[in-house]
Amino acid sequence: MRIYRTSDYNELSRKAADMIAAQILMKPACVLGLATGSTPVGTYECLIEKHQSGSLDFSQVKSANLDEYRGISKENPNSYYFFMMDKLFRHVNINPANTHIPDGTNPDADAECARYEQILCRLGGVDLQVLGLGHNGHIGFNEPADAFPVNTHCVDLTQSTIEANKRFFASAEAVPKQAYTMGIGTIMKARKILLLVNGEAKAHILNAALCGPVTPRVPASVLQLHPDVTVIADNPALSEMNL
Ligand code: F6R
Repeated sequence: MRIYRTSDYNELSRKAADMIAAQILMKPACVLGLATGSTPVGTYECLIEKHQSGSLDFSQVKSANLDEYRGISKENPNSYYFFMMDKLFRHVNINPANTHIPDGTNPDADAECARYEQILCRLGGVDLQVLGLGHNGHIGFNEPADAFPVNTHCVDLTQSTIEANKRFFASAEAVPKQAYTMGIGTIMKARKILLLVNGEAKAHILNAALCGPVTPRVPASVLQLHPDVTVIADNPALSEMNL
């Protein structure tokens, strides 16, 4: 595992975008695993700048997002589909047919999760998976549990995740209670993983994930077992780690 310390969020975003751009340059038809949430927004902005300045071509890139809320439509501004269109896809020359996000409107959870696993299989697996870190250690929407969920599945969001995500909604009650998410096994199959973490509020959980025991109670701790993980974190996020 490589850990890069940055002075602030902007440097984190630039470094993460450089790594994603390097992946695209090395393999133009690569499969990117993408995350939503606040953390990668700056990274996506830097990728857009690279594209608009002519140095990054997304025409052959394929993408697969980690997760989507269950029961909200693509047109809903809180859907992860809407987020990805707004924050990245509509600003670069990625082919919309090559972008994949679980379909939150499919009421048949088993069918939707099986369909998504098949898509990942057909794509040949993820080359570079971008991850953020939840305050409770979740990656994707794999919440703390008694066992690591393997495949894409439907999950009940924990109260702490609902609280953390209510900032995007009118109220905590408006936050969907379920989501479809890649499983831990799905995430671990990615060839490379890029974990992005910023801010002091994540210092404790980042230390637990990287230096504590590997346990499904801290889902991100499983990353200690992956052979190719890069962590980019700013000083406040690394403040509890003895590096
Ligand atoms: C998003 C996702 C989540 C977030 C995590 C951190 O697709 O899967 O695991 O990465 O909740 O969210 P932020 O970046 O908003 O702190």
